[in-house]
Amino acid sequence: MYKAVIIYDSRKGHTESIARSIEQGLRDSGVDVNVKKATGATANDLSDADAIVLGSPTYHGEMMASIRAFLFEMEKADLRGKVGAAFGSYGWSGEAVPRMTETMKHVFGMNVVEPGLNVLERQSDPNISREFGKKIGESAQQRRK
Ligand SMILES: Cc1cc2nc3c(=O)[nH]c(=O)nc-3n(C[C@H](O)[C@H](O)[C@H](O)COP(=O)(O)O)c2cc1C
Repeated sequence: MYKAVIIYDSRKGHTESIARSIEQGLRDSGVDVNVKKATGATANDLSDADAIVLGSPTYHGEMMASIRAFLFEMEKADLRGKVGAAFGSYGWSGEAVPRMTETMKHVFGMNVVEPGLNVLERQSDPNISREFGKKIGESAQQRRK
């Protein structure tokens, strides 16, 4: 079975609820999913994943510190060619999603689903997040065919 891992952080729960909808969408596409908060997650959590999905809201123009630290942790894993995707909630500028996307692409050589899911907090729609999860699941399955 194809496997995905969602690593995220969230202060107020908006990015967390997006993570849950993406999880549903991945399951809809037949992919097994492990969802973890970034604090405490390690490179071992990525070892048998076909797709790695990172979630962070934007605070002060940046992703959360726990996700930034996890991106350094990700250096320990061989991620070349794996599917990546980024998502997060934001209030007005939304820098976290493009930053996570760029790092997965340029540093780790991953096949990143673009654009990432950058959700304006007041317009959050669980159906759109779920569809994004399905799209990631389909990409993971394409890669291994
Ligand atoms: C102190 C503070 C700083 C913030 N800075 C930004 C920012 O630079 N850009 C932005 O788009 N949103 C910013 N936001 C809005 C959050 O990204 C938004 O509320 C988001 O939905 C929070 O997600 P969470 O519930 O997953 O923590 C900020 C919010 C707070 C409270």
